[in-house]
Amino acid sequence: MKYRRLGRSDLEVSEISLGSWLTYGASVDSAQARACVHTAFEVGINLIDTANIYGHGAAESFLGDVLSGLDRSSYVLATKLFFPMTDTDRGLSAAQIAKQIDASLTRLRTDHVDLYQCHRYDPDTPLEETMEALTEVVRQGKARSIGFSEWTAPQVEAALAVPGVERFVSSQPRYSMLWRKPEAEVFPLCEPEGIGNIVWSPLAQGVLTGKYRPGSPPPAGSRAADPSVAHWMGDWPKDDVLTAVQRLVPIAADAGLTMAQLALAWVLRRPVVSSAIIGATRPEQIIGNAAASGVVLSADVLAAVDGALHGVVD
Ligand SMILES: NC(=O)c1ccc[n+]([C@@H]2O[C@H](COP(=O)([O-])OP(=O)(O)OC[C@H]3O[C@@H](n4cnc5c(N)ncnc54)[C@H](OP(=O)(O)O)[C@@H]3O)[C@@H](O)[C@H]2O)c1
Repeated sequence: MKYRRLGRSDLEVSEISLGSWLTYGASVDSAQARACVHTAFEVGINLIDTANIYGHGAAESFLGDVLSGLDRSSYVLATKLFFPMTDTDRGLSAAQIAKQIDASLTRLRTDHVDLYQCHRYDPDTPLEETMEALTEVVRQGKARSIGFSEWTAPQVEAALAVPGVERFVSSQPRYSMLWRKPEAEVFPLCEPEGIGNIVWSPLAQGVLTGKYRPGSPPPAGSRAADPSVAHWMGDWPKDDVLTAVQRLVPIAADAGLTMAQLALAWVLRRPVVSSAIIGATRPEQIIGNAAASGVVLSADVLAAVDGALHGVVD
């Protein structure tokens, strides 16, 4: 496993990291989820991403249980807030930030997270209030650094212009061979500002592994076959996308890579990307996916990927 510095922070994060959305504390049974986290550490993953909203606290509670007893300095823990935890608890007000960080730390059974992220922008709270409250969390030692997820470039610029507050070091956008929107504005802003990107759904929720075939039902045991989570995949399993993804199969094979490794090496080709946050339902997925770290794709492979996916990229 190779490691990259997260923006201008002092955090060194593994190129492949492990997320907990829809999986741990939720659809994956506890023993299997535990095995996934342990396997992640065995292959050198050190960044674990979660959020208060994942399973309404269940993902954080699961991680708190699994991580308790481990050397706290051996892993980088990232969580988030914004989405409603109750009818009245939501957003990025000073009161919410103070309340939600304490609730997350209790569930995670730790006195600090390494990265505290705003899960979305809150248009109902003055930005200065949010940044000052996040700064207070850092000053109290409850978070080592702060980040945002899915903020627009103007929103990030406005945050960076607030005087006397902590600077964001991390951005968490959706990014994959099929979803390239951060390339337009967010990446170009992050690079000179020393903001690293830890990108989510780099496998397009499993679509880029090639296991979903056009015209066929999703394989048993996959996210698309599980009615409790399949709706989160939106319309990606559409046949035109799946047909294009199948055109990647010989490209990956010629490069000596699995489809998942090709997709992960593709997002990691950009230095502004610090880590690819994978989801995993089985330890074997983590072992295979972690091997994408350090893979360098040739210009020919990158061109072939673009050719294969022409017309289905957002
Ligand atoms: N900031 C945000 O708004 C936001 C939003 C979404 C996610 N995230 C973060 O990003 C993380 C990753 O998201 P994601 O789970 O959508 O990522 P992903 O890596 O694109 O998809 C993960 C899923 O693909 C399947 N898979 C993984 N490796 C595979 C392999 N080698 N072969 C076949 N199937 C494989 C597994 O599902 P099955 O085995 O069930 O098919 C796995 O759960 C989340 O856990 C979360 O931490 C953040």
